[in-house]
Amino acid sequence: MNCPKVTVVGAGFVGAGVAQRLLEKELTNVVLVDVVEGMPQGKALDMMESAPIEGFSTAITGSNSYDETKNSDLVVITAGLARKPGMSRDDLQAKNAEIVGGIVQEIASRSPKAILIIVTNPLDVMSYLAWKKSGFDSKRVIGMAGVLDSARYAYFISLELKVPPKEVEAMVLGGHGDLMVPAPEFSKAKGKPITELIPKEKIEAMNQRARDGGIEIVNLLKTGSAYYAPSSSAVAMAEAILKDTGRILPCCVLLKGEYGIQDTYCGVPVSLGREGVKKVIELKLSQESLNALKRSAEHVREQCAKLSL
Ligand code: NAI
Ligand code: 2OP
Repeated sequence: MNCPKVTVVGAGFVGAGVAQRLLEKELTNVVLVDVVEGMPQGKALDMMESAPIEGFSTAITGSNSYDETKNSDLVVITAGLARKPGMSRDDLQAKNAEIVGGIVQEIASRSPKAILIIVTNPLDVMSYLAWKKSGFDSKRVIGMAGVLDSARYAYFISLELKVPPKEVEAMVLGGHGDLMVPAPEFSKAKGKPITELIPKEKIEAMNQRARDGGIEIVNLLKTGSAYYAPSSSAVAMAEAILKDTGRILPCCVLLKGEYGIQDTYCGVPVSLGREGVKKVIELKLSQESLNALKRSAEHVREQCAKLSL
């Protein structure tokens, strides 16, 4: 099928999920790369064998080298270690910085016009590192977290109000960590602000469940972290980019003074299209949410300072 070319690096749980959703939605052909010999090839063949059943006409190739990735339009980086019980996302930083740094260099030299979607944790720091290592314009280096955190928040709201999840819009800003910032003032069910529908203490409990959304899954799985909702989230971003829809999604991007935050990667709503970030959307946050967003960005800045760049 004649369509854009997308590379997914890391053929583990999240990467394989991203590849499968891209194929089944017929968004693009995919190159799936991993260091484990035979594994991306095996997963790619297995996915292609589902084509006669699912009826998609897109195609996937698995590889252990970057030569097949040449001239990709979009690259989704999911390679690296995932959390186990007792680990924070920040605990992954040193090892994943080495992995992501190396991958970005391989990609940038072969696909200099690509847009990068970063998934590897700690997400905000890896996005900053990928921007620095690639030398790309920051609007082409975007982290995935806000879509996931907002989807989790939306699901918890739907449970509380007993409404279908698709009738809930929710917004979570800030870094992808304990300091993320659920914004109830920008979250709605059936078009009504949740602040008019749910008592304050219940909203605070849902806010905390959203902040703990990742670890809740890690503690249940015990051997790794979430991948169904994360792969869905990365593909929502990829779809907006590939189809140039301008859809507004919360993403981790370089802020250059927006929300009073300078030179830090942090989650805020942006409009996405073929150039990457079309526009950063500045919401009129409550003072409480704005202060929390600045605290969250400050934590990302401190973590980035630990990288030797
Ligand atoms: P996984 O362990 O299933 O897959 C990781 C894959 O990366 C493995 O197949 C491994 O062989 C591969 N890999 C390691 N080093 C590599 C290299 N140098 N080049 C190519 N491939 C390499 O882990 P999973 O569950 O897929 O998670 C991947 C990452 O995504 C983790 O860091 C996790 O914390 C993060 N994550 C981030 C989310 C977010 O919201 N931003 C959500 C879910 C996961
Ligand atoms: C999550 O939130 C592990 O960051 C990943 O599920």
